[in-house]
Amino acid sequence: MLLSVETSCDDSAAALLDAEGRVLAQEVFTQPQHMGGVVPEIASRLHMQVLPDMVDRVLASAGATLGDVSHFAATAGPGLVGSLLVGLSYTKAAAMARGRSFLGINHLAAHIHIHYSRSGDVRFPAVVLLASGGHTALFHMTGWDDCRLLGSTRDDAAGEAFDKTAKLMNLGFPGGRALDVLADRGNPDSVDLPFPMGSRQSPEFSFSGLKTAARLCWESGLYSPEDMAASFRARVCDILSRKLFFQARKHRVLSVLAAGGVTANSLLRKTLIESASRMGVRLLLPPILHTTDNAVMVGRAALAELDADPSACSPLSCNAFARWNGEGLVRLCR
Ligand code: KG4
Ligand code: ZN
Repeated sequence: MLLSVETSCDDSAAALLDAEGRVLAQEVFTQPQHMGGVVPEIASRLHMQVLPDMVDRVLASAGATLGDVSHFAATAGPGLVGSLLVGLSYTKAAAMARGRSFLGINHLAAHIHIHYSRSGDVRFPAVVLLASGGHTALFHMTGWDDCRLLGSTRDDAAGEAFDKTAKLMNLGFPGGRALDVLADRGNPDSVDLPFPMGSRQSPEFSFSGLKTAARLCWESGLYSPEDMAASFRARVCDILSRKLFFQARKHRVLSVLAAGGVTANSLLRKTLIESASRMGVRLLLPPILHTTDNAVMVGRAALAELDADPSACSPLSCNAFARWNGEGLVRLCR
């Protein structure tokens, strides 16, 4: 059994997986919001408070004990360093106490590995859209061990753009989901918003201009919240799906993968399903529960690493990190 922990931002999560990557038990605790955003120190302290009992509950609900766990994995970064250190230190200590190996996992690789299974649902080559609160990027994969960056956002992430626009409209924080729900009642063609980063051919994204355009339209007072939300959602989904499927065609892929919190968006899911069926390509979308941060994805990334190298492990000196600047996405942190 593998025990995995995720504490990269404000969600505390733990999961227990079997050797095939099946979920035996899992839990996610979403912290209450502090002052309309995430306050790093409060987030770290809450992880510290909830994690030990959460791990106990996860083990108990699977009828397991720490002694049954053969491998321990935790997110090492990117994310909030204080939050990451809590999950990392806790998980390293548990591994050390049981004399088992510890794997530090890259959070972005983890999001993508929610689709990992030994049965090989993903056929390669593949392109991946990763769209979350902190990142928006396209990757090309020729196998689970080869994930190369095609392009990413030059400014805001898609989830951040959703959240900032939702906040402006007083929909709370993080407001991506609230904006999604409101958008169902509006007309997506009512507000004329730009398509930034020029063409769909570019794998790069930019959402800050779109966010500013949305703010100016909203402040004009000419549009209803429903129409504003529907137009904004439609534009973001259009950008994400056009760029993703342009790359899918260009690279003649067999699978298209999507991951990250924004893939919970109802219109994005619908748009991706339609585009994939038009192209005749296999599409993998995470179940809604596994779009936002969770520990199952961390566990599956660790299993993929162990399948590639059964002796894989991170040193106990493996440290938390805030940013990922690479071109190739590597699962295991050393
Ligand atoms: O992957 P995630 O949990 O955290 C990061 O790794 O960043 O993603 C969280 C993001 C937030 O920005 C949240 O507003 C967005 O995912 N999100 C959504 C929806 N549900 C969550 N955005 C648009 N529509 C949704 N239904
Ligand atoms: Zn995430």
